[in-house]
Amino acid sequence: MREDSQEQLEQPEQAKQPDLYTRATAAADFIRAKIQLTPSIGIILGSGLGNFASQVDSPYVIPYSEIPNWPLSTVAGHSGKLVLGHIAGVPVAVMQGRVHAYEGYAMEQVTFPTRVLGLLGCKTLIVTNAAGGIRPTIPQGSLVAISDHINLTGTNAALGPNEPRFAVIPGAGQRFFDMSTAYSPKLRSLAQAEAAKQQIPLSEGVYIAVLGPSFETPAEIRAFRTLGADLVGMSTVHEVIVARHMGIEVLGISLVTNMAAGVTGETIHHEEVMEIGRRVEAQFTSLLVALIPQLI
Ligand code: HPA
Repeated sequence: MREDSQEQLEQPEQAKQPDLYTRATAAADFIRAKIQLTPSIGIILGSGLGNFASQVDSPYVIPYSEIPNWPLSTVAGHSGKLVLGHIAGVPVAVMQGRVHAYEGYAMEQVTFPTRVLGLLGCKTLIVTNAAGGIRPTIPQGSLVAISDHINLTGTNAALGPNEPRFAVIPGAGQRFFDMSTAYSPKLRSLAQAEAAKQQIPLSEGVYIAVLGPSFETPAEIRAFRTLGADLVGMSTVHEVIVARHMGIEVLGISLVTNMAAGVTGETIHHEEVMEIGRRVEAQFTSLLVALIPQLI
């Protein structure tokens, strides 16, 4: 075999893939061809919070498996559907389930759906997750507005060639972009006002992201507390990084499903995550449904 043809045969699969923007555009075009709706808010539902998707009026449901290039989750509790429709009259795209880096996905895949939400027209993203509580003053079952994050995953979803075409507002899509108001102070204060109105306790806290899938050790949690973290989880930060790259405003809500390792001495189970989600569902739903029309 001639040397040049062998080289061609051995070219890795990845090198032949279209670039990220082309793949995300294909997914967005596929969704637009199914339903003529321009969502203004994207909502990513974390573990145990998936039932919120039932709030969508006249929902149009697309299984992730049908959408070109969309990554598929392998975790229980992340059912894997995109639900388009309206909540309180606002056009929304709700992601019931997400993929995580601990499943073996590259950050570009983890954040692919966020890119597509931006291309579909979302200028606001509500990102939710299950998290471990580091501070005893934020107990199990608490809803927390994320005020900031610490990315301890050792990587960044915006790595690679910059793609300015992902910008959803003029001036976004830069190589270097600001993260000082990553979690919009304005959206957070609207959330606080609505929570107060409904008498739903809503704490604020700093979310630290780890890769997982192991839960943390007590020594790690002590270190994270020293670093200034209030919550720990395995998602969210990369979606937020990518959203900010595009110029999307972010509201982050965590549900404290368990106290982090060593805080109470109890062992941590994934089942607990799902159970607490079910318990707090009514509050979470009523807060978000009332908030959504205020965010646009
Ligand atoms: N650690 C990391 N991720 C989590 C936890 C936790 O304790 N609880 C829910 N997600």
